[in-house]
Amino acid sequence: MAAGRYQMRNDNKFKVGLFGANCSSGRAINNLPERWRADWESCETMATLADDAGFDFLLPIGRWKGYGGPSNFHGSTFETVTWATGLLARTKKLTVFGTIHAPMFNPLVAAKMMVTADHVGRGRFALNIVVGWNEPEFQMFGAQQREHGDRYDYADEWISVIKRMWSEEKPFDFDSQYLHMRGVISEPKLYEDNAPFIMNAGSSDVGRAFAMRHCHGFFTSFREMDVDRSAAFVRDFKAEAKKLGRDVDVYTQGHVVCRPTRREAEEYFHHFTTEGADFEAVEEILRLKDITRANTPDYDARRKQVPLMNIGYPIVGSPDDVAEKLARIHGAGLSGIAFSLVHYVKELPLLADELLPRLERLGLRS
Ligand SMILES: Cc1cc2nc3c(=O)[nH]c(=O)nc-3n(C[C@H](O)[C@H](O)[C@H](O)COP(=O)(O)O)c2cc1C
Repeated sequence: MAAGRYQMRNDNKFKVGLFGANCSSGRAINNLPERWRADWESCETMATLADDAGFDFLLPIGRWKGYGGPSNFHGSTFETVTWATGLLARTKKLTVFGTIHAPMFNPLVAAKMMVTADHVGRGRFALNIVVGWNEPEFQMFGAQQREHGDRYDYADEWISVIKRMWSEEKPFDFDSQYLHMRGVISEPKLYEDNAPFIMNAGSSDVGRAFAMRHCHGFFTSFREMDVDRSAAFVRDFKAEAKKLGRDVDVYTQGHVVCRPTRREAEEYFHHFTTEGADFEAVEEILRLKDITRANTPDYDARRKQVPLMNIGYPIVGSPDDVAEKLARIHGAGLSGIAFSLVHYVKELPLLADELLPRLERLGLRS
């Protein structure tokens, strides 16, 4: 992979990216008047601010159906490859991911959509593969969700045939358990003929093994950022990948609330995860996981936890606090983080002015 082509391949030891800005409310299930609307103008402003500031990547969420409630959490979402293509046209250095549900996108179409985005971005497109989980989304597609292991068997075939389309010059047939494709050819190839950075977002052993075989990165969640446990996970993961002759990095996700003082940050964090949360949307998320008041004795406690769980690892505090927490995550062996913000445009300037320079001083970025 050509050096310098990607922010994902630059010299920054710890990559920072923004997660979820293509979806209304980002990842904060909130009813606040300032919540993120994810309209195109705001996405463009966010992307140019992040590009100018030196962020490494933008990572969208693959989401098709909202969760209701007064805020209709995730009710409005941009399809991620078209979103990426538009933002790649407006930026210069950022890597922009598409998050693709392998079972929903015919691989021939997906391969070409990604090539198009990659040419628009002069090689700055990257792929995040998801196998999906959300039944109402599958129903909207009229698609049957496969058993868990089979989802990854399908994804295995899906990415294998796509890689062949990106590299083979002559028409080929692809016959596997799920895909039967004849005389396959796809031109143009990727920009300057390079493969994009590929991640898999998952958490199971099967997902982990899939990332080891096919991806450059494994994008996963750590419930509590117990640095020792995460460090052990990353060490084992990388060692196992090495045995397969592959070098695979681990990335994680979180939510940043950075304010001039720790107190302001903590108060805001408390506010949008408690009285500012949209608990009707929370109840729908729980229902989709078959957690109801009727079948769950500690339902109220679970309900309270969702606005917190949904944003992943909370990174809350002053610029010094946030920089120190990110340094600890890097210390656990992680190669980068995709984090969300309540408002991606209003909160970026402080991160650009105060956080990124601190990460440089800590030696995480150059
Ligand atoms: C960090 C992370 C990000 C994810 N992002 C998405 C997403 O954008 N859209 C989606 O439908 N599922 C997403 N998922 C869920 C995965 O697609 C997958 O369905 C789920 O993790 C189950 O796979 P697993 O068994 O490997 O964990 C994400 C999962 C993780 C861990």
